Amino acid sequence: MLTESQVNEYLTNGFLVVPDFVNEGTIQGMKSRAEEIVRDFNPTTISIFSTKDQSNKTDEYFLESADKVHCFFEQGAFDEQGVLKKSKELSINKIGHALHDLVPEFRDWTRSDEVQGILRCLKYNTPLPVQSMYIFKQPGIGGEVRAHQDSTFLATEPESVVGLWIALEDATLENGCLWACPGSHKHGTHVRFVRDENHAVSFQGEMPQVDKEICTPIVVKKGTLVLLHGSVIHYSQENTSGKSRHAFSVHIVEGTNHYLEDNWLQRSQSFPFIPLYTT
Ligand code: FE2
Repeated sequence: MLTESQVNEYLTNGFLVVPDFVNEGTIQGMKSRAEEIVRDFNPTTISIFSTKDQSNKTDEYFLESADKVHCFFEQGAFDEQGVLKKSKELSINKIGHALHDLVPEFRDWTRSDEVQGILRCLKYNTPLPVQSMYIFKQPGIGGEVRAHQDSTFLATEPESVVGLWIALEDATLENGCLWACPGSHKHGTHVRFVRDENHAVSFQGEMPQVDKEICTPIVVKKGTLVLLHGSVIHYSQENTSGKSRHAFSVHIVEGTNHYLEDNWLQRSQSFPFIPLYTT
């Protein structure tokens, strides 16, 4: 599935762009299903996703999403009275975090031969999909996602996170495409997001100053797969355009590595992570 030079590029830069990876039928299936999930979402709980201060915003609704399908609002979705400024459909930041296990359109793609082929090329023995997200990056209010590393949220010993991010719509400079800092994965993970025994979560550590001059915009057509090493520093800017930038991402870890007990995302014994394959 990947050539040797693609694997080397991934190992050197910490990310890799693979155009034309997802077919149109799969894209449309995912988009329609996400639309249905939002339509059926009756917000009794308001939860906002933020990479800036998730620890303050975090609530049980967020933690419980580890094995469910929950919708999270954009930070700027509400006015001062707590009323949505736009329709519900244009106010959701993302759906997470067990789409890859619970929703057929996302499960089938995650477990597809193509995805398995990628993980085999990257030498995973027992790849475990642990988290998935449908990201809307809504027109006008799709917020900035500040520089971070995905291993911050999902630690194994040794580290093993890889993110598979697919563009369901074209990602451009105007609608808030991904940006990544080549080679930044070689310095380990700087911050961890952990939960304590009282289910309180917090960030531990400090992110170094990111030299955005050396970061690369990942402008891609829909259907493109972007592989992101768990320690590569990446971010996206606000979507100031009139167009959304839908994407689906799934995070995979090596199942033979130790999955840390203080990761925010935990599964019960009755609903364990399921490997894509075992070797
Ligand atoms: Fe990320």
